[in-house]
Amino acid sequence: MSDSTVSGYFCFLSIKSRTTYPRCKAKRFILGSSPFLKGLAAGGNSSASGHSSASGHSSASGFFDTLKPPSRGLFGGKRDYMRTPIHDFLKSYADSGTLRLHMPGGKGSPYPRDITEISGADVLYESSGIIRESEDCAAALFGAAASCYSCGGSTLAIQAMLAAASAATGKRRIAAGRCSHRSLVSAAVLLGLDIDWIYPDEFPSGTVSPEQVEAALTPGTAAVFVTSVDYLGGECDIAGISDVCRRHGVLLLADNAHGAYKVFTGDHPITLGADMTADSAHKTLPALTGAAYVHLADAAFREPVKSAMALFGSSSPSYLILESLDLCNRFIAEEREAALAALNGVSELKKALTAEGIPLRQSDAARIVIDANALGYTGAEYAELMRKAGAECEMGGVRSTVLLFSAAQQAGDFGRTAEIIKSLPRKKPIEPPDIPVIVPERVMPPREAYLSPSETVPVSRAAGRVCADIRSPCPPCVPIVMPGELISPEAAAVTERYGVTAVRVVK
Ligand SMILES: Cc1ncc(COP(=O)(O)O)c(C=O)c1O
Repeated sequence: MSDSTVSGYFCFLSIKSRTTYPRCKAKRFILGSSPFLKGLAAGGNSSASGHSSASGHSSASGFFDTLKPPSRGLFGGKRDYMRTPIHDFLKSYADSGTLRLHMPGGKGSPYPRDITEISGADVLYESSGIIRESEDCAAALFGAAASCYSCGGSTLAIQAMLAAASAATGKRRIAAGRCSHRSLVSAAVLLGLDIDWIYPDEFPSGTVSPEQVEAALTPGTAAVFVTSVDYLGGECDIAGISDVCRRHGVLLLADNAHGAYKVFTGDHPITLGADMTADSAHKTLPALTGAAYVHLADAAFREPVKSAMALFGSSSPSYLILESLDLCNRFIAEEREAALAALNGVSELKKALTAEGIPLRQSDAARIVIDANALGYTGAEYAELMRKAGAECEMGGVRSTVLLFSAAQQAGDFGRTAEIIKSLPRKKPIEPPDIPVIVPERVMPPREAYLSPSETVPVSRAAGRVCADIRSPCPPCVPIVMPGELISPEAAAVTERYGVTAVRVVK
């Protein structure tokens, strides 16, 4: 095995220290092409040239009127990104009748294209063959400088982004929206990161403003981490936040788990100025559960991202998931009109429901968020009504019910959804519950708390203890108290209200 094929993040560090990393990282970055890297080279004072300004970016509402193709990527020109090298390889292998003396144990049954990293199949974390070819197609389609496939969802993608950002900057502080997915917190535990939280007005809103971001930056900040699109369909001003990050020489990482469909709409965060994004293909594109991307504004991040994926991810990535990402490229390349029609179907359904008096909350192009309280229910109760009527919703929360659509949604689904919603009984509105945004006191770093001797106690008896856990209501998988934070009586009450009954606390 050569140096370049050694897996593992720490191997990456040692290999790089023999070449350009970490001592010569500044030089390596000056050579890079992303606005961030240029910003670093200019001492963190570069202008935001090269990406759109906040004012130039239309918000999600009504964006169908202003749709523009991405500035880079497929719709700008070349049409050869419909290649499906992974699918083609798997198909020819399955058809070849080769005697399978390798993993997986099914030996082709019942999944003939389920293979492992055999000769010719490439190696996910050091991709240079069919996987790399497919990843390059994805990068071109999304307008990224490079893309890395993840078989561990955005969860793995987020962990990899944070590891790469921390390694690139040599810093361990992340400024992040408080209502971030638990994978950010698990990355903090695994990597020993500290998080400076930016609190929203409402739980679990992930949106933060450029001003809030600027106020949260410290000299030790490695990266800003924002969730956009969030679970309720909220979106950040990525271009504006990117401007702030450029001025301060800080990386911008976007959890775009819910926004992979933005490959079709021209407002993908990688287009708007993020340095790295984590996108769950499986949430809003036709791909298998677990299929995700890290999209990069600079290809210099590919190696650290791959290395971090090897650190955290399985050494047996699923070829069925990889194939689904490969085939998703073809969907993106060939089915743009159908995808836009599907997203337009969501927009039309929103209008139709509003005309029927169904109260909707502002949300992105793939979601409909029903204000269930205004219809006399909790979000969970309304989701239960929908279930009984034959529709399973993405989430029923305390206030609202979230319906999630995708770029591959069937046309008939919109009318069906409208019929079901119209048929449901409406009641006298109930007062929206007062759910405070909890601002806990931090008493130890997340990693130290998580790894401390601990015990599990009922949440009702957890007040006054230090949280050692990443427990969160699921969905939206946003923890209310993080490891290392003191659980106040108020925090315990909110945690219980969201259905979490027990929590691990430091002994
Ligand atoms: C905001 C957000 N980020 C990240 C994730 C993790 O995505 P995945 O399920 O692809 O690992 C989720 C999962 O729902 C999420 O809601």
